[in-house]
Amino acid sequence: MSAIIIDGRAVAARKREEAGARAGALRGRGVIPCLAVILVGEDPASLSYVAGKEKALAEAGIASRDFRLPRESKEEELLAVIRTLNADETVHGILVQLPLPSHIREDAVISAVDPAKDVDGFHPVSVGNMVLGRKGFLPCTPHGVLVLLREQGIPVNGAHAVVLGRSNIVGKPLANLLSRKDVNATVTICHTGTGNPKIYTREADILIAAAGRPGLVTADMVKEGAAVIDVGVNRVEDSAARKGYRLSGDVDYGPVSEKAGWITPVPGGVGPMTIAMLLLNVIEAAENAENAKDAAAGLYG
Ligand code: GUN
Repeated sequence: MSAIIIDGRAVAARKREEAGARAGALRGRGVIPCLAVILVGEDPASLSYVAGKEKALAEAGIASRDFRLPRESKEEELLAVIRTLNADETVHGILVQLPLPSHIREDAVISAVDPAKDVDGFHPVSVGNMVLGRKGFLPCTPHGVLVLLREQGIPVNGAHAVVLGRSNIVGKPLANLLSRKDVNATVTICHTGTGNPKIYTREADILIAAAGRPGLVTADMVKEGAAVIDVGVNRVEDSAARKGYRLSGDVDYGPVSEKAGWITPVPGGVGPMTIAMLLLNVIEAAENAENAKDAAAGLYG
């Protein structure tokens, strides 16, 4: 059997259209939705991600304000930029591209963003709201994976989902969202402390690889007919490639696609969904800000 290839670009295009329509409605109310994007240093992968995000923002009619800080910047300088943006009513979302240089504390930076503008969903308040099932911003990649599963019609209710990886950005929130009552998967998390992940992955109806290790998931680890979602984005040296590297996921794509029921390619699977969900979070932040203003005017105007 050969797997159905999940077209993340097509699903993301529909979500980006929705973001564009809602951006148009906001503009009709005199509001230009705006995301501030902060990048510290010049990590090549981060530069490429940020360029991709800014192109998508522009296409959806969302403004972006770009802040580039040198690698040697002090943590306090970055915090000062964030505080200024928190106070700026024309900025609806703030994204600090990760990873940060090692002399800057990621926790301090994430916690400095106003939760109302936390379109990455990384702030402890956003994480708390997510875990409690309250309203709030969901992190873009995990949310994108859930939307991809739903739009592709992959059965999740009652399925056994195995997540490889426990990062704050993907593994942890994804495991949490999959176990929500309205999603209803049974979830296993495997990580570097898991002696033999194959025991678990072979039982997975849905296998999600988010470990950042190229080739981690081999065909012998996959149950026949499973849905395999590859969140890995690894730059693998390749002298034949124009840039000297190629992008590879965490999944040994060829052999696994012969065994799986569904599979996401890299690129063109989960990556485009991350960007689409970011656009929708920015729109939501702008709508929330506008609605709060209208409500205040109704009360006091
Ligand atoms: N670095 C890798 N993924 C992400 C993401 O989703 N958001 C931010 N801010 N940085 C990242």
